Amino acid sequence: MNADGKRSVTLDEIPFLGVGLGFRQDLKGAMLSNAHRIDFLELVTDQYMDKPPFKEEEAKALAEQFPLVMHGVDLSIGTDGPVDREYVGKMQKVAAWSRARWVSDHLCFTRVPGVSIGNLTPLAFTEEAAAVAIRNTREVMAAFDVPFLLENISYYFRVPPSRLSEAEFIQCVIRESGCYMLLDLANVQNNAINNGYDPFAFLNQMPLDRVVQIHLAGGYYHQGILLDTHSHRVPTDVLDLLAHVAPRLPNLKAVMIERDQEFPPIEELLEELDQVREVLASRWTPLHGRPAVTRPSGAERGGGVPSAPRAPAG
Ligand SMILES: [Fe+2]
Repeated sequence: MNADGKRSVTLDEIPFLGVGLGFRQDLKGAMLSNAHRIDFLELVTDQYMDKPPFKEEEAKALAEQFPLVMHGVDLSIGTDGPVDREYVGKMQKVAAWSRARWVSDHLCFTRVPGVSIGNLTPLAFTEEAAAVAIRNTREVMAAFDVPFLLENISYYFRVPPSRLSEAEFIQCVIRESGCYMLLDLANVQNNAINNGYDPFAFLNQMPLDRVVQIHLAGGYYHQGILLDTHSHRVPTDVLDLLAHVAPRLPNLKAVMIERDQEFPPIEELLEELDQVREVLASRWTPLHGRPAVTRPSGAERGGGVPSAPRAPAG
């Protein structure tokens, strides 16, 4: 039950959505005309808040054509203060319009009371910061009848004092709050390169049984720093991380490519989606023996809830 007394949707009731894209206005026409090759779309929640009515209509129209999930950027789950209930109320509206299978935001902070930073900012990796994020996450989870996911971010500095490792911090918040994880493998790769650690060892410390969605993206180097720009195709290094973790993701429901700038012809993105499907078909247990290029059935896309393919527990 959530805070409104509505029965919460369980993961078992959500089908595997497949391999999809983040919805971007620049690609709207191309996405709609290639809908048969895109398994689902992710909407940026904030792009539908406080907007003219046509955005509500757009979300509703997209929900007729694609399974949708929601991804926000300004919930600021790590702010040491009360959860912004007005913001959560707007999230709820967008979730209803889009019939979102789940909602997500980032494990970070973007504001403190009265001051907006405008950036996904890392938290100190401490028990105290984790406790704040856990408290806020529980409150947000209770506001929804669909699962709530937190994403690991890219960061370019560590906030002192950081007594926990990044992996310990993420584990603690996800496990103690009871939420699920949106695992961004490009962010793992960026942080590993920029901070000098092994991304495979890092992934081995993630709460992989809580991962519901994966983000993939490509960035570029600037003055020796790998930037999380979502501007290039997904590099082989990041696909290797997907191949590494895929066999250990019993609750995976969706894999998505984030592209935010330097948009290529849609055919290049569609070919990237097929490449991701190949990796999943070879490495992710529920898809073994299935064709690599799959598309959810009409029943799944229309909101019917057939049983999802599942990997063996553990
Ligand atoms: Fe991401």
